Amino acid sequence: MSKLSPLIGSDYPFPPKPAVLSVQEKLDYKEKIKQLLIEKDAVLVAHYYTDPEIQALAEETGGTVADSLEMARFGRDHKANTLIIAGVRFMGETAKILTPNKMVLMPELEATCSLDIGCPVDEFSDFCDQHPERTVVVYANTSAAVKARADWVVTSSIALEIIEHLDSEDKKIIWGPDRHLGAYIEKQTQADMIMWQGDCIVHDEFKASALRDMKAIYPDAAILVHPESPQSVVELADVVGSTSQLINAAKTLPNKQLIVATDAGIFYKMQQVCPDKELFAAPTGGEGATCRSCAHCPWMAMNGLKAIYNSLIDATGHEVDVDEEVAKGALVSLDRMLNFAAEQQLKVKGNA
Ligand code: 13P
Ligand code: SF4
Repeated sequence: MSKLSPLIGSDYPFPPKPAVLSVQEKLDYKEKIKQLLIEKDAVLVAHYYTDPEIQALAEETGGTVADSLEMARFGRDHKANTLIIAGVRFMGETAKILTPNKMVLMPELEATCSLDIGCPVDEFSDFCDQHPERTVVVYANTSAAVKARADWVVTSSIALEIIEHLDSEDKKIIWGPDRHLGAYIEKQTQADMIMWQGDCIVHDEFKASALRDMKAIYPDAAILVHPESPQSVVELADVVGSTSQLINAAKTLPNKQLIVATDAGIFYKMQQVCPDKELFAAPTGGEGATCRSCAHCPWMAMNGLKAIYNSLIDATGHEVDVDEEVAKGALVSLDRMLNFAAEQQLKVKGNA
């Protein structure tokens, strides 16, 4: 039943790497950015996959470093008039849809995501039209237009609960675009799902057999895996979860060594929350390896200090704009997720 998306594997155009800055240039940019954030009433919202210096700057300036769900909530609830979203395009669009009255800037508007590229709205919409009886659930890593076509948006931190909920209402599901995350959720929930065949070029590169070899070298290490990874890698995991769930697991697990299968950007925060633990990157090498990303998202890497500075100096070419009608449609499916997440939080608090 599933359909192949038109862009799979190594066909993705990779962006140029950001310019390398000297130590002095970095210090200068950081100071200027700190000043400009105050002057422009702006706050820096960064994803865990951005480079460590960007995450540190977000923390130092009263912004946040978070997963995609928390980034959306933080931007929506923060009082600043301008949000600087250091992440990828869908995160900027989500911020704009949730707070249309704020100015939403991105260091690089070209920072996209292979899942977004691999799920063009017209093709995805045709796919949905072939199954009108199904509820359309899309991952947050999609364009605003795809979100507008969907009934629900989910992020990896709440996907399982939302699909469980829909399954309990006997809903049949169209899932898009990440086939690995979809397969993981299908296995966990036994929900009736048909899948769009997209993937994340970063997580798709983790290799199960090399991971098995690594585990043999570090038998006491726990394996932490983001569910955008292939099923063969997920099967070796002690913990499967979103970025924030993996960071939490790193902190609470008794193991002193951890093998981590997700973007290398996460090590900054993970090491901060468990400084006494030894962290190893899961292998992207081995049989069939291309190592095009080598476990670091090339689009997240576009969020450099110079680009942040430029966006604060002149918003032209940095401002996120979402068509009003599209935004209206996307808000419905996004709000469903946010309301569901809020209800879940209330239940947890009530049980505490
Ligand atoms: P999170 O929702 O876990 O932050 O993941 C976003 C993402 O792009 C993962 O590759
Ligand atoms: Fe997209 Fe993968 Fe980059 Fe996340 S890591 S933004 S899923 S390409």
